[in-house]
Amino acid sequence: MRELLFLNQYLIKYGKMMLWGILFILLTNVFSASVPILVRLGLDEALKQSLWITGRGDALASSLIFQTALAFGVGILLLAIVRGVFMYFMRQTLIVVSRKVEYDLKNRLYNKYQKLGESFYRKHMTGDLLSRMSEDVSNVRMYIGPAIMYFANMIFTFVVVIYQMSQANASLTIWVLLPLPVLSYSIYQVSRRMNLGNKQIQEQLSVITASAQETFAGIRIIKSFGMEATFSAKFQAEGEEYKNRNMKLAKINALFFPMMLLLMGLSTLIVIYLGGKEVEKGAFTPGNLAEFVIYLNMLIWPVASLGWTTALVQKAAASQKRINEFLTADEHQEIAGKPFVFNREITIDNLNFTYEGKTQPALKNISLTIKRGEILGVTGRTGSGKSTLAQLLSAMYYASQDASRVLIDGVPMHEINLHDFRRHLAYVPQDVFLFSETISDNIAFGIETGELSPEELQKAVKAACLDKDIPQWPNGLNTLLGERGVSLSGGQKQRVALARALVKRASLYVLDDCLSAVDAETERQIIEHVSHWLKDATAIVVAHRIAPLRMADRIIVLEEGVITDIGTHDELVLRCDYYRNLNESQSAEFQ
Ligand SMILES: Nc1ncnc2c1ncn2[C@@H]1O[C@H](COP(=O)(O)OP(=O)(O)OP(=O)(O)O)[C@@H](O)[C@H]1O
Ligand SMILES: [Mg+2]
Repeated sequence: MRELLFLNQYLIKYGKMMLWGILFILLTNVFSASVPILVRLGLDEALKQSLWITGRGDALASSLIFQTALAFGVGILLLAIVRGVFMYFMRQTLIVVSRKVEYDLKNRLYNKYQKLGESFYRKHMTGDLLSRMSEDVSNVRMYIGPAIMYFANMIFTFVVVIYQMSQANASLTIWVLLPLPVLSYSIYQVSRRMNLGNKQIQEQLSVITASAQETFAGIRIIKSFGMEATFSAKFQAEGEEYKNRNMKLAKINALFFPMMLLLMGLSTLIVIYLGGKEVEKGAFTPGNLAEFVIYLNMLIWPVASLGWTTALVQKAAASQKRINEFLTADEHQEIAGKPFVFNREITIDNLNFTYEGKTQPALKNISLTIKRGEILGVTGRTGSGKSTLAQLLSAMYYASQDASRVLIDGVPMHEINLHDFRRHLAYVPQDVFLFSETISDNIAFGIETGELSPEELQKAVKAACLDKDIPQWPNGLNTLLGERGVSLSGGQKQRVALARALVKRASLYVLDDCLSAVDAETERQIIEHVSHWLKDATAIVVAHRIAPLRMADRIIVLEEGVITDIGTHDELVLRCDYYRNLNESQSAEFQ
């Protein structure tokens, strides 16, 4: 339950509205509790009149009873209307507050997601991130809204109704209240089982959704390997489980109302039996009896809701715990940090890096200086640690482990304001990601909206040799990408990502294998443009191919996370076997 204390800040934030809501609950209860009194008075009055007129049976007498009934009827109706109005305001305040808190929490989580680092995203699945933002936040909303509302309502109803009951007949009141704890407890038990059942259903639904998603994403592979039947069978089995869990819940649900009605009926029976005896003794009027039956009915729902709200609160606490886990997860940006100053060099000082959960380090004893304005080539066999190095230099593994051994102008990277650093960085990851927006929006991605001039866009498009591809797209650069738009070829995607980096006019470029899917001739042209573009910038260019490495001032060769050689193209051709082989095999290819 401690987890829910976190929400107090929101209760305080919307405190004024909550207080109004509680006031409306009180007013609703005062007006509801007046109804039974009117019923008693009306009934007793009509009975008195009917005794008085016994035997007369004339028109005057029956019209008198009719008038009494009408007057009390109208009174009860008016009370009900006023009560309804307050009830409306009660929901308009308390439930609205819960929606506002839901909105705040979702935004807070989403903003937090934006700030969490790479290692967080490797630990948590997309589905999990989504479910905490949707389901868990809804569960918490149920606590802020309905749970608090019904709980406060229950307390007021109890105080008001029990007070009035005990005024009328204290011992009968105790008898009437006896079955209620049983009712409350049973409803709590049923609600808990219902929540559990719901949770199991939700989990299975996630399984089905994830499985369907994967099937659609991989439908071509499934078909080409002839695996349709296997996948259908798997999906059917998952659906079967989903159905079974739903059926189980339906059985529990079916118990809920009959049980409630049984217990309610039992209490009513006690009132009528014992109350009837009191009337016989003359200690009670028939009006009192009717009043008690109504009181009992007024108590039933709050009592039932106590069991229900307890289960809601438990569920909300579990959800809030999950939300808090994310909200308190380490983020890297919060540190104000020093401004990014890069006038001299980037130094890597004996850096070792091991991925979480791995035993072998991905980078070992890396020491290196990259001068400002230099282009550094990085090559090496697949899996040798090139991308790892590129990511470390892009502060993707900020502050973690030995990343502090990366210094820019002598300042450890984790002491630099990350936001500032990223503004000066243009990073093209090896696995390109484009958003389902237009091509030009994807290129302008890193630039403030409206800040990118059409000329600059054209320049970047030309530098990435995308101009030749434009006629293929129905709306040119304004063609929508992704699900409803066109799909790009692998090389086109890489070049859009490259253009996105180029328009940033950054001072540090990290290009991870960003031309691997481009043909040799286009690659040559792009390199020509890009080396011109990077004239004043510093760049780290990762590549398997010789052509992009040729624009580098120096090239490092990585092998199993270790720098095995470093030098210019000419030097490496002479002394590094790996590099020489690479050079020879690729020049042979082009002749
Ligand atoms: N996210 C990760 N989690 C755990 N281990 C990883 C992760 N990414 C890479 N590795 C491991 O680190 C080592 C270096 O990988 P890296 O991606 O840096 O190689 P690379 O040189 O870029 O290879 P390629 O040429 O295929 O792109 C590999 O052994 C790889 O299995
Ligand atoms: Mg790589």
